[in-house]
Amino acid sequence: MKMKKIIVAIDGPASSGKSTTAKQLAKKLNCIYVDSGAMYRAVALFLLQNEIDFDDKKLLRKALLGISIEIVPSRDRSENTIILNGVDVSKKIREPEITNYSSTIAAEGLIRKRMVELQRKMSEKQSIVMDGRDIGTVVFPNADFKFFLVASIEERAKRRWTENQNKGLGKKTLIEIKEELAFRDKRDSTRKIAPLKKAEDAIEIDTTNLSIQQQVNKIFGLIKK
Ligand code: CDP
Repeated sequence: MKMKKIIVAIDGPASSGKSTTAKQLAKKLNCIYVDSGAMYRAVALFLLQNEIDFDDKKLLRKALLGISIEIVPSRDRSENTIILNGVDVSKKIREPEITNYSSTIAAEGLIRKRMVELQRKMSEKQSIVMDGRDIGTVVFPNADFKFFLVASIEERAKRRWTENQNKGLGKKTLIEIKEELAFRDKRDSTRKIAPLKKAEDAIEIDTTNLSIQQQVNKIFGLIKK
């Protein structure tokens, strides 16, 4: 039986488990997975590499026309490769400098407008699981399923620290990571355009004491129901 096209929106603060959950959920649902944060990260990288001051609106408008972002799923859909203007930047966009800059440039309306257009386009012909900050509120307000993942700041800092260790990304201490996460969450939640916020009709899930498998199963169970 062919499943009807569905859209699943997963939002939440940094390191709340969105991407890992969204990825595994997409595999179970046999649909594509899009990490919208990777798109903002790619824009941040582009602006840095080309030394473009995003406050210069004329320059930014022109720059946005020259940015192509492709998200290519691996054959088993377990990973995405992020291609920025023909170059694989999947690893580069995870560097701490880009992490912080992505949240700065993500407050800019022109950038968000372009990203939202691209994100909506990706859902036109296929079922999709997308994670981010504004997916249930702005990008897909009519999504079939909306989840908002939260976890304590201590747990989230531990997760990001472990992830950095595993990927050989920087040598920041747990305390530094905790401060950076808190700062980025505050900036993401208080910006004027599309702030990080739970959609009224989203189901909130606290992942502090859940394993990845438990959180995936919980969400999958709710969708199947
Ligand atoms: O993986 P992590 O949770 O650290 O961040 P991310 O999801 O890769 O997003 C990086 C940054 O992009 C966030 O701090 C947000 O400022 C921005 N972002 C956004 O504004 N809207 C989205 N839909 C996704 C990310």
